[in-house]
Amino acid sequence: MNFTEADRYYQQYKSCRVVADVASDDVMYNSGQDWYFYVGESAINAVLSALTLSRLSAVKSVLDLPCGHGRVARHLRAAFPNAELAVCDIDPAGVNFCADKFYGRPILSAPDLTSVTLGGPFDLIWIGSLFTHVNRDRAERWLRYLCEHLGKDGVLLASFHGSFARDVHLRHYPMIGADAWMRIEQQCESTGYGYEAYPSQDYGISFSRAGTILDMACAIPGTRILGYTERGWAEHHDVLTIAKTDRAQDWINAANRYPSD
Ligand SMILES: C[S@@+](CC[C@H](N)C(=O)[O-])C[C@H]1O[C@@H](n2cnc3c(N)ncnc32)[C@H](O)[C@@H]1O
Repeated sequence: MNFTEADRYYQQYKSCRVVADVASDDVMYNSGQDWYFYVGESAINAVLSALTLSRLSAVKSVLDLPCGHGRVARHLRAAFPNAELAVCDIDPAGVNFCADKFYGRPILSAPDLTSVTLGGPFDLIWIGSLFTHVNRDRAERWLRYLCEHLGKDGVLLASFHGSFARDVHLRHYPMIGADAWMRIEQQCESTGYGYEAYPSQDYGISFSRAGTILDMACAIPGTRILGYTERGWAEHHDVLTIAKTDRAQDWINAANRYPSD
């Protein structure tokens, strides 16, 4: 997508009023209104920047997973008002809220995402803070599964806890108990990906090295890594960007390098 096309979405977003209704049970709102809306807008900046690196010419279908109660979905709806928006989470209240407020197609998730029928293919998949809570096996399998749901040249952005997550945990707010955090750091040191579940839950906190996430993405066939941005979402989470454009696709000639397929 060229800058002019991306700018059309940006101008659209800027001219549209982002829905301000926040669900009373949206725990993401606990950090306050300014942060809540800044985080959503930051996702749009990350998405539009990613689109300029892609070969996609228009965004007609979007998947927000996990949508929560729409911290980002409300901004996606504003930037892509004519797109089909699918909203998926394991929390039915969040899915229903997003479906109602942002005209989304509701998808109720399950503990293993690969058992969920997502529909698609999608031009854009936004994954804000899902892999930050799962182990490496899930992150690898789910990332691959989600890439299978991208349409041709579609773009996926996924957030991870990168090196700044350590500062957030130590200096701002602890995300998990100190012992569990130490084990996460040890695993990360030895394998590049650490994870510990919250007490008696199948869900917790992960922390990963950029290189490990890039290795994960390199192993997904038929895709191309468009970028990995440290603190690319709200100056906090790292963001991996992948396109469903084959990294092995050959040039056809010097003037028009890409096959028209
Ligand atoms: C930190 S919140 C982020 C929510 C949203 N992306 C946002 O920015 O507000 C993590 C979300 O992951 C959801 N979740 C956990 N396990 C899931 C699964 N297996 N499938 C889909 N969503 C899941 C939770 O219900 C929660 O809404």
